[in-house]
Amino acid sequence: MNSRVNPMRVTTPPDSKRSMACLPARPGQLAGAEGIESELPSLDTATIRRDFPILQRQVHGKPLVYLDNAATSQKPRRVIQALVDYYEGMNANIHRGVHALAEEATDAYEAARQRIGRFIGATEPAEVLFTRNTTEAINLVAATWARENVRAGDDILITAMEHHSNIVPWQWVAERQGARLKYVEFGPGGEIKLDEVASLLTPRTKLVSMVHMSNVLGTINPVADVARLAHDAGALMLVDGAQSVPHLPVNVADLGCDFLAFSSHKMLGPTGVGVLWGRRDLLDQMPPFLGGGEMIDLVGRERSTYNALPWKYEAGTPNIADVIAFSTAVDYLSELGMDRVRAHELELVAYALEQLGSVPGITLYGPDALQRRGGVASFSIEGVHPHDLGQIVDYEGVAIRVGQHCCQPAMESLKVGGTARASFYVYNTPDEVDTLVRALLQAQEMFS
Ligand code: ALA
Repeated sequence: MNSRVNPMRVTTPPDSKRSMACLPARPGQLAGAEGIESELPSLDTATIRRDFPILQRQVHGKPLVYLDNAATSQKPRRVIQALVDYYEGMNANIHRGVHALAEEATDAYEAARQRIGRFIGATEPAEVLFTRNTTEAINLVAATWARENVRAGDDILITAMEHHSNIVPWQWVAERQGARLKYVEFGPGGEIKLDEVASLLTPRTKLVSMVHMSNVLGTINPVADVARLAHDAGALMLVDGAQSVPHLPVNVADLGCDFLAFSSHKMLGPTGVGVLWGRRDLLDQMPPFLGGGEMIDLVGRERSTYNALPWKYEAGTPNIADVIAFSTAVDYLSELGMDRVRAHELELVAYALEQLGSVPGITLYGPDALQRRGGVASFSIEGVHPHDLGQIVDYEGVAIRVGQHCCQPAMESLKVGGTARASFYVYNTPDEVDTLVRALLQAQEMFS
């Protein structure tokens, strides 16, 4: 592989100016794309783009170039229509009514659970719990399983590249229960080492909670190997799949994890729905999360008994419409094929890193090996604050995220205040990468 493609912290000298007219060739022609050519038919981005109404709009008079997919993805017409269809034709509360609408809505909600479960290889739909988002899914485990199973002197192991949602809940468990929170550091290549994980595991380690794909570095962590190490040490393994489930083929049996958390809105579905997948035996034993309607079996004056899985963890009226629309998003991704989604993003990120790598003064973060990174490119440009970069490229219609990306400990490890980040999805194209690079060169010119 061409080492210019995705160096960790390779900085191009700021004086090595290049012409904006000389954007290099497309993937396939790139040395940097060697080894990532796929046998699979490419995604037809022109057709896909027509499915996303928002991609037709302009921003500041320029066509929208949406490269903030790690924050949230755009929604295909089919998903938007699923919401309209639900409210226009089926709206009712579920699991409660005997009338036709209530039965139809209940069936659609439970069918959604089945489809979403199949998408991640769940053995049975009862292992799929709906939450508001990944954050709530992780908090659920912290507030239930960890409350019962983590004792004073126990350890919880996470990494320095975790999102705040996979840090703060464990800080609370540690404070409340006298446990220790330990960190696996990542190296200059943005990757963790398995022997370091092994060296931090002790008989007191109760849980390893690790991001599958970093929203900052793009790193794809070897979570299946880590799960094996965790289990050998007697610990459980939670995988934060917020960035991986939307972009890679993910199967819980292959990961060998005990819990997997992810969100609908990052994978073409609506906001307000997340999933906690868990092993049935664990979910059966854990205490409920929130108390209220739906999660109960019998309610006495003093005590109550609880519903069966999965409803034991779904107190109150759930987000029915969005769950149903989420399953439409999962169907859309399944039709594209997650292998092809992955191949498309790999090709795009290779191209992006190649193009970004030739911007003067740029520093790119993340693993050197493309196979171990997803469709995320984080970078800084010498002399230009990431917020200025974000604003200037926005005037060219380009949406990227800037700042700490909810990962302050990772920023500390990188020794930066923040980065700019372009993140890709099924509808993004090499032309959009070119637009980003042109906009960055403009920003740089303004600040030079
Ligand atoms: N965690 C999301 C991101 O990385 C919000 O942008």
